[in-house]
Amino acid sequence: MKVIIIGASSGIGRELAKQYIALGHTVAVTGRRQELLLELKRQHPAIHTACFDVQGAEAIGQLEALIARMGGLDLLIYSAGYGEPSEDLVAAIEIDSTATNVMGFVKIAAFTFNYYLKQGGHGQLAVISSVAAVRGNSFTPAYSAGKAYISNYAEGLNIKARKLNTSIFITDIRPGFVNTKMAKGQGQFWAAPVEKAARQIRTAIAARKRVAYVTKRWRLIASIMKLLPFWIYRKIG
Ligand SMILES: NC(=O)c1ccc[n+]([C@@H]2O[C@H](COP(=O)([O-])OP(=O)(O)OC[C@H]3O[C@@H](n4cnc5c(N)ncnc54)[C@H](OP(=O)(O)O)[C@@H]3O)[C@@H](O)[C@H]2O)c1
Repeated sequence: MKVIIIGASSGIGRELAKQYIALGHTVAVTGRRQELLLELKRQHPAIHTACFDVQGAEAIGQLEALIARMGGLDLLIYSAGYGEPSEDLVAAIEIDSTATNVMGFVKIAAFTFNYYLKQGGHGQLAVISSVAAVRGNSFTPAYSAGKAYISNYAEGLNIKARKLNTSIFITDIRPGFVNTKMAKGQGQFWAAPVEKAARQIRTAIAARKRVAYVTKRWRLIASIMKLLPFWIYRKIG
């Protein structure tokens, strides 16, 4: 299988890349930190790398070139993401987060869906959203809103794929806390080791799940969050 992971210089994406390589797949990784991509290349010489910012105008050209180098694409995982606490509503954080999690995402997701249509209506797109997608919150307003966009968009593409009678599969992955740089200092609980999270993500992708919570127990938290009336939710959100 030919797999591209957008946002794999560190964290969940990097671990997914390592696991897919160990399983013998053809893997390409992207990110902005070239030195981390090159380190992966040194450890796994067969890996393809492309260094670009998903916010940049060159992102789709770089992605097309990567697909050409790999000789096709079966699975694209969008793991790029950015979020910082923004309790004082720092404009730079809100805008940067939205540019990566919404604008960067939609460009790549729409391109990938259309690419799958052009190649005959098959392929898989997995998006790393978050449990944070389920409700708004005051700590990271742009992040939770951006993740809600990703999950909602994934559902839209899923319906579109079925309407067009294709074999295109969309998987919306919603992690709770995972032990990476991004999750540090957020009052974490139930934080999963990144290896375990990546294993569960791979299993959900292989099963072509429409929505998957990682780790699985976060489905419970998401269900409770959805059910809470606003007057209670606002005390924690
Ligand atoms: N860790 C958690 O607890 C948790 C929970 C729920 C959801 N998630 C989601 O899981 C995904 C992976 O996060 P992580 O925990 O693995 O954090 P991470 O280690 O910070 O990984 C984020 C990845 O996204 C890439 N990225 C960020 N902004 C980018 C941009 N503008 N252009 C290109 N690449 C960009 C980073 O690469 P460069 O910096 O090299 O560009 C990095 O490879 C994110 O979407 C995150 O929102 C994480």
